[in-house]
Amino acid sequence: MLEHALPFQKIVFVCCNQREPGERECCANKGGKELRDKLKSMVKARNLQSKIRVSQSGCQDKCEHGPNLMVFPENRWFSHVSEAELEYLLESIIATLDGQPSNVTTQSPPPVVERPSPA
Ligand code: FES
Repeated sequence: MLEHALPFQKIVFVCCNQREPGERECCANKGGKELRDKLKSMVKARNLQSKIRVSQSGCQDKCEHGPNLMVFPENRWFSHVSEAELEYLLESIIATLDGQPSNVTTQSPPPVVERPSPA
C-alpha cells in the first residue's frame, strides 16, 4: 500500500443513490444525478478539474433531506440542494481554494418575529 496526499483540494460527493419504488426515498429520484452532471460541467467550464473533484457517492444516510452533497475536507453537508443553488455553492467552494477560509454560512436564517400589525 502507498499513501499519498489528496490529489485535489476539494472533493464534492454528490449522492446519486438509486432505490427501487417502494423503498426508502433516494437522492437519484430527487435530482442527484442531474446535480452531479451540472456541477461537473461547471467545474470543467472553469477549468478547475485539477483542484475540485466532483464524485458521485452512494447513500449518505440522509435520504429524507436529499438531494445531498458533502464537501471535503471541510466536512460540510448541503441538503435539499437545487440546481439553482449550484452557482452559489461552487463559488463558495472556489473561494476556499488555495487555503482561503470558508465563507459559507450554515446557520439558519434568523427566526421570523411576528409583530403586531399597525393600528
Ligand atoms: S439516497 Fe442520498 S442520502 Fe440516502
